[in-house]
Amino acid sequence: MNVLVTGGAGYIGSHTCVELLNEGYGVVVIDNLCNANPKSLDRVRQITGKDLKFYEGDVRDEDLLRRIFAENEIGCVIHFAGLKAVGESVAIPWKYYDNNLNSTLVLTKVMGEVGMKDIIFSSSATVYTADNEMPLREDSRTGNCTNPYGWTKYMTEQILSGISYADKDWGVVLLRYFNPIGAHESGLIGEDPRGIPNNLMPYITQVAIGRREKLSVYGNDYDTHDGTGVRDYIHVVDLAKGHVAAVRYVAAHKGCEVFNLGTGVGYSVLDMVEAFRTVNNVALPYQIVDRRPGDIATCYADPAKSRQVLGWTAEHDLKDMCRDSWNWQSKNPMGYDS
Ligand code: NAD
Ligand code: UD1
Repeated sequence: MNVLVTGGAGYIGSHTCVELLNEGYGVVVIDNLCNANPKSLDRVRQITGKDLKFYEGDVRDEDLLRRIFAENEIGCVIHFAGLKAVGESVAIPWKYYDNNLNSTLVLTKVMGEVGMKDIIFSSSATVYTADNEMPLREDSRTGNCTNPYGWTKYMTEQILSGISYADKDWGVVLLRYFNPIGAHESGLIGEDPRGIPNNLMPYITQVAIGRREKLSVYGNDYDTHDGTGVRDYIHVVDLAKGHVAAVRYVAAHKGCEVFNLGTGVGYSVLDMVEAFRTVNNVALPYQIVDRRPGDIATCYADPAKSRQVLGWTAEHDLKDMCRDSWNWQSKNPMGYDS
């Protein structure tokens, strides 16, 4: 079976292409390369020894989508394509609503026309409200998003669940990711952020490689074991395998289901700094600064439903995540352009 992977040249998409090819699926990627380097797809081919098909273009391009479905027998779509920079979404909300919502609307319109109605969507733990008890379950409260990026994830969940409610032929899986980090163990593919990284692990690796002077730890007065923010970090290869499990699931189930993809374990920023230093034996200077607006103290998943229903569970631990993040960064100091 062929899987259409939108945004397949990106960080999570490229790792998912590897796992799909390893499991014997055919892979067709559409990506406009607005936040990716096409070398990632050459590396996917190198890792797996298998080919995939790549269409450079925008998911909002209806005619291109029609051509892709006409030229390939697609059995499932994984929809990663989207913009994800929280700060930019606050500054330029229209760009985020246009890209993230219209890509889903155009994609599902064309899927409906061709009668291919199985879709897996990249949602985020950001859809949960800040006042929930931990761990977060799929039925924890959602909404009250603090930025347009989060709203696009929330709204896309509503769009897809509404489509599947109206037409019982649709199979929709909404995957709520916690904090993906790490890289493929080969060090050939990994996260390659443009500009100054927003997220913790890419910032850590860029400090360790000497591209940034020191890490700023955003606040040490949270109600956590050491005062710094606690998150559920998940190895990107485990996350990618969660998508393969979802492809199997959606082939056999109609309707709309939500799953958390997390480990169920929370680590603080200082836990991450300490683990990264110890595992990789590198220096990692940091300073404590003010809290980052919009951050919460603690966020981690209850992954029980994914384990029970998808038969998926995260296998990599924090040591693996720190080792593989550093392996990628040290082999590719400037990312794919090294
Ligand atoms: P990424 O930026 O590396 O990958 C997204 C890819 O989509 C990029 O290759 C980009 O070029 C492409 N793209 C964007 N808009 C497009 C469009 N209109 N048409 C075609 N291609 C387009 O990001 P990622 O970290 O791999 O994230 C993948 C998905 O998972 C995103 O939807 C993101 O919001 C979601 N997500 C990511 C995280 C995370 O921490 N990385 C957490 C939760 C959810
Ligand atoms: C952020 C986004 C969230 C998005 C997720 C994955 C915000 C407010 N939230 O979540 O919407 O779904 O990324 O892309 O941007 N930290 C530092 N120093 C840094 C970077 C981060 O101390 O330089 C801390 C943060 O305060 C937080 C933890 O590290 O406690 C993790 O931060 P980050 O990697 O940005 O992820 P989230 O904040 O969980």
